[in-house]
Amino acid sequence: MEDIEFTPEQNKTWAELYRRQVTRVQEHASVHYLSGFEKLRLPADRIPTLDELNTRITPASGWKVVRTDVRYTSSDDWYRYFERHEFLITNYMRSWEELDWTPEPDMFHDIFGHLPFWMNRYYAEVQEMFAPAYLSSASDEEKENIKRLAWYSTEFGMIREDGKMKVFGTGLMSGGEEFLNAAEGRMTYHDFSIENVIGHDKVLYEQHKDLYVIESLDQLKTELAKYFDAILERAAHQ
Ligand SMILES: [Fe+2]
Repeated sequence: MEDIEFTPEQNKTWAELYRRQVTRVQEHASVHYLSGFEKLRLPADRIPTLDELNTRITPASGWKVVRTDVRYTSSDDWYRYFERHEFLITNYMRSWEELDWTPEPDMFHDIFGHLPFWMNRYYAEVQEMFAPAYLSSASDEEKENIKRLAWYSTEFGMIREDGKMKVFGTGLMSGGEEFLNAAEGRMTYHDFSIENVIGHDKVLYEQHKDLYVIESLDQLKTELAKYFDAILERAAHQ
């Protein structure tokens, strides 16, 4: 697909969001995000081209970024792209009135929030666990649980690093006010575990009050395997 030209307004929104968020992430984001942020070198003043993104991301993690006109891709479609190691970024950009918070993921979220992580091969390996489990699920309940596990780790999780709590979730990275509330201790924090997360409904249209904290990428991987391995094994024996 040909890449697209964005409007001056869209680039201006990007630049303002970038300016607001860049110092916050330097202070509070996980090292897994920041190391990728440095290597990805997102432009501060305009939306990056697909070519700029993929020439850095694909050699680093094997993943490819794909643009979509869809504003909210369904989970089934999302995980089919995931299975091919393709990460969808939407062409939708929030309006100037929604700079501080938008309930709908936009391209600032998809690019600034997610893509630095895709410079990290080990992070990609953990993310690659989701699609096989999701696509082998036997019920809507299992699918919901897998979505919850993603939501409260990669999208809205926190992580412990050197005795400090750091921001890990991509939805927080692009989040403004919610990022600061998470980073500065104004949420209720729980340990991330299968037992704690399953059964907790995703918060979609308001800011979070409860967040989950992972110990490390290794711990996240081990925890996810507890739930995913049973699904994969069952599917293999059908
Ligand atoms: Fe996201």
